[in-house]
Amino acid sequence: MNESNEKAAMPRHIAIIMDGNGRWAEKSGKIRVKGHEAGAQTVDRIVSLCAEIGVEVLTLYAFSSENWQRPALEVAALMRLLRHYLKRETKRLIEQGIRLHAIGRLDRLEPKVRKELEEACQKTAAGKKMTLNLAISYGGRDEICDAVQTLCRKVQSGELECDAIDDELLTAHLDTATLPDPDIMIRTGGEYRISNFLLWQLAYTELYFSDTLWPDFAKAELMQIIDNFQRRERRFGRVLN
Ligand code: IPE
Ligand code: IPE
Ligand code: MG
Repeated sequence: MNESNEKAAMPRHIAIIMDGNGRWAEKSGKIRVKGHEAGAQTVDRIVSLCAEIGVEVLTLYAFSSENWQRPALEVAALMRLLRHYLKRETKRLIEQGIRLHAIGRLDRLEPKVRKELEEACQKTAAGKKMTLNLAISYGGRDEICDAVQTLCRKVQSGELECDAIDDELLTAHLDTATLPDPDIMIRTGGEYRISNFLLWQLAYTELYFSDTLWPDFAKAELMQIIDNFQRRERRFGRVLN
């Protein structure tokens, strides 16, 4: 427990696996896409809350490299929701000082979706309050492979010595290079797994698994998680006095 009287620090970076949309819809006899629509509303609420309370980076796992294998209709619906989100929210993100950033294999997106995403990132680039980092077409293994390929090319061209490759250099070649590692990782939806999310970056992240389905995830639960985080002792492998 953190017994100090100092004001407990706000986590700098919160990462969320937003899971459970499909089950939320199926529970009330609706099609899965309705769950994704409800989940998009939760995104609005949680983004605003995190910006208000002073979180620096919020990473949301929106679409995994494996999610491409879902039925084409569901993939299309998720892409449509992403485009609606960008259309609806870009102005508000600018007003709230939120910078949009995206990680993942964006070259797999349809060109028009990718273009709209890149435009939204550019338009919000001056935001200083928070970075909203969307993981789209993202897989932790893909990300590590891409970084390794870049490093290999540098070794091949003589720009880099093999022995110079260390934790810091690999970190600097990931999609998240400019972002701190997550302090908190939350997975909603009741599953206890990482599903290829931020495999490298989660090394010392505090993990939270919630049974709440993402569309039902609310402010109170996030505040409870942050409160719990502020009481945890992070040792990073050391012994603390
Ligand atoms: C998470 O909800 C959203 C995405 C993966 C895009 P799911 O669609 O995985 O919902 P469940 O897990 O089937 O309930
Ligand atoms: C993880 O959820 C991916 C996202 C939330 C975007 P999944 O529903 O795809 O993961 P699994 O299939 O339960 O591992
Ligand atoms: Mg799921």
